Amino acid sequence: MSEALDQLLANNRRWAAATEAREPGFFTRLARQQSPRYMWIGCADSRVPANEITGLDPGEVFVHRNVANLVVHSDLNALSTIQFAVEHLKVRHIMVVGHYGCAGVRAAMRGVRVGLADNWLRHVQDVRLRHRRRLDHLDAEAQEDVLCEMNVIEQVGNVALSTVLQDAWARGQQVAVHGWVYGLRDGLLKDLHVTMDDPETVVERFAAALKRYPRGEPAAGPAGEPDGADTAFGPGAL
Ligand code: CO
Repeated sequence: MSEALDQLLANNRRWAAATEAREPGFFTRLARQQSPRYMWIGCADSRVPANEITGLDPGEVFVHRNVANLVVHSDLNALSTIQFAVEHLKVRHIMVVGHYGCAGVRAAMRGVRVGLADNWLRHVQDVRLRHRRRLDHLDAEAQEDVLCEMNVIEQVGNVALSTVLQDAWARGQQVAVHGWVYGLRDGLLKDLHVTMDDPETVVERFAAALKRYPRGEPAAGPAGEPDGADTAFGPGAL
């Protein structure tokens, strides 16, 4: 095996020994059962590791990651993970966590072709198109930062609209969905204040979060976007 991988295995043995020494029985306890209170839906980016950032140990956060932290209504991978987290583990909080400087968001913003992922990133481009009046008047860097945030807000909405959350809330289960964004430059998480914990207020929370991003002047003439174009939320079921 390569030297680099040997190093990882050596690191692992050291970590396991140190963890067990610090907290005897740690692994046997965890092996019996996991009961995390949190679920993290984040970007696959190697710089955004859920446990380290939040100071959580193994067993404390259930994690799903993909490129650009998307929750797509037909993605059985994400939906199955959310279902397991909500119905079996009974997590109390789901955090959708984006990050500034996200290569997926940047590619979607700039229309850069990266390959197969272009199809996946169309979902981010859809977010951009939907909210273009809140984005187009900003400079390029600000547009990317704001799109990272808006993408999180949209994904929080997607989690909230999923059958898993709708059913959980209908049963009276307490589970909240939050939107956060992580700064690669300072290591800090920012709450986007778009927490959804009740089906009655989902639309309201979504609209309130978006209102924090002012629109530019409407385009002149009949080509101008109708007001409210970007607040048409969800399939109309709510
Ligand atoms: Co990313």
